[in-house]
Amino acid sequence: MKYIIEHMEQGFSEWVTLEYAQIIRDLGPSNLILSSLPEGTQESDIPSKLREMGLQWTTRPLTEINVAFPELPSLKEKRVCLLDPRAKEDLQPRDANDFDYFVFGGILGDHPPRDRTTELLKAYPDLLVGKRLGDKQMTTDTAIRTTQLIIERQKEFQQIEFIDYPEFRFNKNEATEMPFRYILNADNKPILPEGMLELIKKDSEQSLDDLL
Ligand SMILES: C[S@@+](CC[C@H](N)C(=O)[O-])C[C@H]1O[C@@H](n2cnc3c(N)ncnc32)[C@H](O)[C@@H]1O
Repeated sequence: MKYIIEHMEQGFSEWVTLEYAQIIRDLGPSNLILSSLPEGTQESDIPSKLREMGLQWTTRPLTEINVAFPELPSLKEKRVCLLDPRAKEDLQPRDANDFDYFVFGGILGDHPPRDRTTELLKAYPDLLVGKRLGDKQMTTDTAIRTTQLIIERQKEFQQIEFIDYPEFRFNKNEATEMPFRYILNADNKPILPEGMLELIKKDSEQSLDDLL
């Protein structure tokens, strides 16, 4: 199964780089394509960590993925699923037969969510079919992990164990609540990209410093 992230942020923040790196680990580099990077983007603009992991990227939009990567299966109308928190139907294991590609917004989570994913549905109305992954906002890597479980492992959404808005406590005085839904691992801890906990801690120390 192929997964596409339509990059909708400016550049690559540390957060986005950690998420994309984890997604490459989870899917394998040949199954992920990052599309719609700003015109003029060069290989040197891609974080070295992602280049070394074999990230496939293009400045071309979704509809031109096959121009950039002719070896990939062609994008056929209505066989491309957009994971959209505003979609009316939830993704089901049986949808595995109906789609060749799954598309995600490369959007940083915001609180309250601004529904920017729906812009993609409006941009490519003939190509995309929207499906939802429950009613809570997930990080992009969590949304891809959830899709993998439903489509590739044929798990029902209700069988997946999630945690909503977990709090990460670093010491007696410092804790950060993340306004997203995450999958729980076998130790009942939210699954985060490698290095993300350290980044959340660093960001929370930074905001404390800014207050002082
Ligand atoms: C952090 S979310 C961004 C949500 C965002 N606040 C927005 O403006 O749409 C990044 C991507 O993960 C996927 N996603 C996250 N939660 C989802 C959900 N509950 N259902 C379907 N897709 C979801 C979507 O593809 C979304 O574009």
